[in-house]
Amino acid sequence: MTTEASKRDRHFPLPLTLQSRPLVFRPMDAGCRDAMLDFARALPEQDLLFLDRDIARATVIDAWVEDVSHGKFVTIVAWQDDKIVGYATMDRGDARWTQHVAELRVVVSETCRGIGLGRWLLELVFEMALEAGATKIVARMTPDQAGARTMFQRLGFEQEAVLRDHALDANGLAHDLLVLSFHTSQHPDNRCGSCGVSVLAPLSLEGTRLCSLCYELRYEELGSGD
Ligand SMILES: CC(C)(COP(=O)(O)OP(=O)(O)OC[C@H]1O[C@@H](n2cnc3c(N)ncnc32)[C@H](O)[C@@H]1OP(=O)(O)O)[C@@H](O)C(=O)NCCC(=O)NCCS
Repeated sequence: MTTEASKRDRHFPLPLTLQSRPLVFRPMDAGCRDAMLDFARALPEQDLLFLDRDIARATVIDAWVEDVSHGKFVTIVAWQDDKIVGYATMDRGDARWTQHVAELRVVVSETCRGIGLGRWLLELVFEMALEAGATKIVARMTPDQAGARTMFQRLGFEQEAVLRDHALDANGLAHDLLVLSFHTSQHPDNRCGSCGVSVLAPLSLEGTRLCSLCYELRYEELGSGD
């Protein structure tokens, strides 16, 4: 299988400054292992309950790195200096009959929330999902994740299902999981005015509606006076 991010690899590493924090987005690779473990272990358990893997375990990170290296799915990692502060994954699974479905997973460290990082990561993997041909995009989250619900719902995702008592926390308490979805057929086909990819919520710059990557590249150009 070829990596679904291949067409956009040329954009990485992608620098981005959010509220005076200089960040860099890069596709996940073996060099992320230790920093990803530190990132995952610093998160409250509550933030991990929606995942189907326990990313606070080294063997799980190793398998994850292996999976992305084989193009099984795509993970974009946000770095601040030598620390990982967030990531987003676009996962289309293996089955031929669900290749139109992509699951997105976004997690941001507690210290970097509320500055727009989750939204940027979501945009990046959403665009990758559309580019890969997905027409149904899904995300799972526990109902207490107000930030996650707001972020996805503001972009047009709607609640599709509730998986009752689906995740057990360390105290044995059961939590529901919400499944939110976005069916592209029910939304306008927004396209980037520069590169033409479909976008979730185009960003306006100088009167042109752009995808997040073209927006950032153009913004950098303007900032550097080119
Ligand atoms: C969901 C998550 C990734 C959001 O990350 P973030 O970097 O704080 O999000 P942003 O700063 O980009 O905010 C995105 C939007 O959500 C809103 N938002 C963020 N946190 C919020 C909160 N606690 N309550 C209400 N709204 C919130 C922001 O106002 C913003 O809205 P806007 O785009 O209309 O301005 C982060 O809270 C997280 O990692 N949660 C735990 C993991 C999880 O549940 N992931 C979701 C499953 S895929």
